[in-house]
Amino acid sequence: MKTLLFNIKELLQIRDESIKKVSGVDMKELPSIKNAYLRVEDERIEGYGSMEDLVDFNADQLIDARGQIILPAWCDSHTHLVFAGHREGEFVDRINGLSYEEIASRGGGILNSAKKLQDSSEQELFEQSSQRLQEVMRLGTGAIEIKSGYGLTPEAELKMLQVIKTLANSFPISIRSTFLGAHAFPEVFKNDKEAYVDQICEKMIPKVVENKLADFIDVFCEVGYFSVEQTERILKAGVKHGLKPKIHVNQFNSIGGVQSGIKYKALSVDHLEVMTQEDIGSLIDTEVMPVALPSCSYFLSIPYTPARLMIDQGLPLALATDFNPGSTPSGNMNFVVATACIKMKMTPEEAINAATINGAYAMGLSDSHGSITRGKFANLIITKDIPTYSFIPYAFGSNLIDKVMIKGSFV
Ligand code: NIG
Ligand code: FE
Repeated sequence: MKTLLFNIKELLQIRDESIKKVSGVDMKELPSIKNAYLRVEDERIEGYGSMEDLVDFNADQLIDARGQIILPAWCDSHTHLVFAGHREGEFVDRINGLSYEEIASRGGGILNSAKKLQDSSEQELFEQSSQRLQEVMRLGTGAIEIKSGYGLTPEAELKMLQVIKTLANSFPISIRSTFLGAHAFPEVFKNDKEAYVDQICEKMIPKVVENKLADFIDVFCEVGYFSVEQTERILKAGVKHGLKPKIHVNQFNSIGGVQSGIKYKALSVDHLEVMTQEDIGSLIDTEVMPVALPSCSYFLSIPYTPARLMIDQGLPLALATDFNPGSTPSGNMNFVVATACIKMKMTPEEAINAATINGAYAMGLSDSHGSITRGKFANLIITKDIPTYSFIPYAFGSNLIDKVMIKGSFV
């Protein structure tokens, strides 16, 4: 099947295949062709160029994209999209003055979601999660990472990971899976936390790997959750079994999690709302992708990741949603990109780079996703008739997407 999209107002994020991520001042560049065409063959991008050079209109499907901008589909590298039920009661509690940490210490938060998930069947979970996955695909996401971490028992964690695998086999969107058994301490381990860490390292990780259920290992490294020592034990066990780390650090406190991520060669360190200059400095000249989650900051009214300080010191940055029932009940990457511009003072070019090629890198997918490159998957956002690409973050509440293509087919 050959598709030709022509008269494209502007084709964004055209990159050579050698580019795996962009950092520092390079994030201000968003290479593009105005008045362009794009050829898709089956699942992949076959070619592109200026309309002036288009002579052959031969294709099975011809799409006139006059007035429309085309960019790579969003790459959402951090989500907890598989969950059971919702926590809008806690949302109201926070409006009435309780903090996220206070709610968690009263048995709400992650443990509340874990209870709901443990009581749900794999089929129920799959159905709820499918709805959310289809919603984010329509919102322009073409590749996504999904974590476990609401099971917190060997059985329930495997059930979650199995649902992620079934989603990956049921939908065209590319899915990467992360084992986050270390999301919170279950009630039964309240007085013997080391025993839960033992269970993760000795029982859960080997089982997850044996059943090929995860690509990455994650830990919520935070005061009241997993200490730096516990985090490192878990990362070490994960790495030994072939799982690459991608970790939650510096959401509320800077306790050394960034440095643990660097030490264990994490693909990414995520959240980073609270960053010291030492944390920023230690990421320079590493291969670790920092990931910001601005809709979590928005929803919890906590600080935003200091993107300007980080990018201006030469770091790369990726943007992701953190879609989950507690801190970010939204999987809308368009909102993330807009919020990064509005609240974190990222330019539209920086935000689009962060949500495409750098997001792909943070999932180990930049060989096949995140840019308009010959041979990469034809994962595209085709906007409505808009004046410029800066209009995407500017008109932040509007749906500006006309069509989404994932692996060569329209969603
Ligand atoms: O990334 N911070 C840890 N985990 C999630 C929130 C989990 C929850 O509240 O259910 C996050 O924000
Ligand atoms: Fe998260």
